[in-house]
Amino acid sequence: MKFSSTLSAALAASPALAAPTSSAASSTKVVYANSGHIYLASYDGTKFTTTVNSSFRNTDPSWLAYVAPNSLYAVNDIASNTFLYNIDVNGNAIKQVTNKQGSGGVVHLEVNKANTRMLGAGYGSGKIDVWNIENGGLTLIKSIQSTGPLGPNPDRQDAPHPHQTVNDPTGRFFVANDLGTDSILVIDSQNDAFNIVNRFPVVPAGAGPRHGVFFPFGAAQATHYFLLCEMGNVVIAYKVTYTDDGRGMTFETIQVLNTFGPNTVAPAGAGAGELVLSPDNKDLYLSNRLTGQATDNIAHVKIIDNGAGNLRLLWINSVSSGGTGPRMFSISNDGSSLFVTNQDGALGVTAISRKADDGSLDTNFHGTISSGAFGQSGQGPQYIKQIQ
Ligand SMILES: *[C@@H]1O[C@H](CO)[C@@H](O)[C@H](O)[C@H]1NC(C)=O
Repeated sequence: MKFSSTLSAALAASPALAAPTSSAASSTKVVYANSGHIYLASYDGTKFTTTVNSSFRNTDPSWLAYVAPNSLYAVNDIASNTFLYNIDVNGNAIKQVTNKQGSGGVVHLEVNKANTRMLGAGYGSGKIDVWNIENGGLTLIKSIQSTGPLGPNPDRQDAPHPHQTVNDPTGRFFVANDLGTDSILVIDSQNDAFNIVNRFPVVPAGAGPRHGVFFPFGAAQATHYFLLCEMGNVVIAYKVTYTDDGRGMTFETIQVLNTFGPNTVAPAGAGAGELVLSPDNKDLYLSNRLTGQATDNIAHVKIIDNGAGNLRLLWINSVSSGGTGPRMFSISNDGSSLFVTNQDGALGVTAISRKADDGSLDTNFHGTISSGAFGQSGQGPQYIKQIQ
C-alpha cells in the first residue's frame, strides 16, 4: 500500500486509507533531519537503513513537510527562508530546488487538505507565513502578525510566538498555538483571506501552547482539540464547536492533564514537546523533555469515550525515548510504530512499537540510530516522519 503524502492528504484522497492495516512493512520510508542535513531511510520493523544522507550548509531543517509525489519543504530555524527540495523517494535523491524569504524563526509547516497552501509558524518573528504550493511551487501569499496580550512568563513570553498551525478536518480553518500569548488563534482561509477570526485564551496563564491535534482523525469535522503546553507541561482537552457568527470555531475546556501523570509535579524546567494522535483515535502520545532523568520519555494517554461525545483523558504510563530532547516524534501511517527523534543523549532516532489492541508502548526499541551519526552532542535530529 502506498501512502501519498501526509496522513491528512492521504485521507483527503481516500478515507479508506486511514484504517490501520498491517505492521510497518519493509517498504516504509521515513525522512528525518538534523541541523544541516536531511536523510531518507527505509524502516522494516526492526531497523532503519539510511539511503540518502545529504548536507545542506547553513540550514537548520527542524521541520519538514512532504507533498507527494516529490516535494519536500523545510523550515530554516536559524534564518527567515523556507526551502523547497525535490525528493526522489524510490530513486534515493534529495536536491534543493529553491528557497524563498519569509518570516524569521519558522519552526513548523502545515499543508492544507487540498495540498495547495502551506502555513509556516514563525516562532521567532511572531508571524505566520502563508505559501502557495500549487504544482510543487513555493510563493509567499501573506504573513499574518500574531498580536494580543503576552503571557506572564517574562523569559518565554516576551513576544507572540506562534509555535504551530493545525488545519482543521474541513480544511477551511487553521488554528495557531501561540506560546507567547497563551492563546489559540483561529485563521479562516476562505477566499485566501487568512485572517485571524477568533482568539481563545489558554488557561492556566503561562502554560505556553505548543502543539495540538484535532479529534477525531478522519472525520469531516472536529469535535475536540487536544493541546500540549510546553511550560505548563499539561495537555488540555477542548470541545470544539463550529459557529456561523464569523468566529469559525469556539473552544470549551473539558480537562487539563499533567503530562507526567495526575497528582504529579513536573520537574523544574521540563518542557513538553510533541503531541500525536493514533490513527484509530484511541490514544494520545506526548514527549516530556528536560525531565532531568538519564533519558526523557514518551507518555501514553488513553482517550476514553463515555458516549455522547463525552471524552476523558487517562494517563497510562511513560517509556524512555532513548535519549534526551525528544522535540518531535510521529506515528507510522498504520499506527504500529512511533518514530522518535532525540536532540541529545545516546540514541538520535528510535522506533517504539505500539500494540494495536490497547495502544501500549513496548519498552524495547525496534530500530535505532546512534547519536554518533549526527556529530557533536546536542546536534541530534529534530524531525522524523513516514512519507511512504
Ligand atoms: C552521514 O554521512 C556521514 C559521512 O559519511 C557519516 O559520518 C554519518 O554517520 C552519516 N549519518 C547518518 C545519520 O547516516
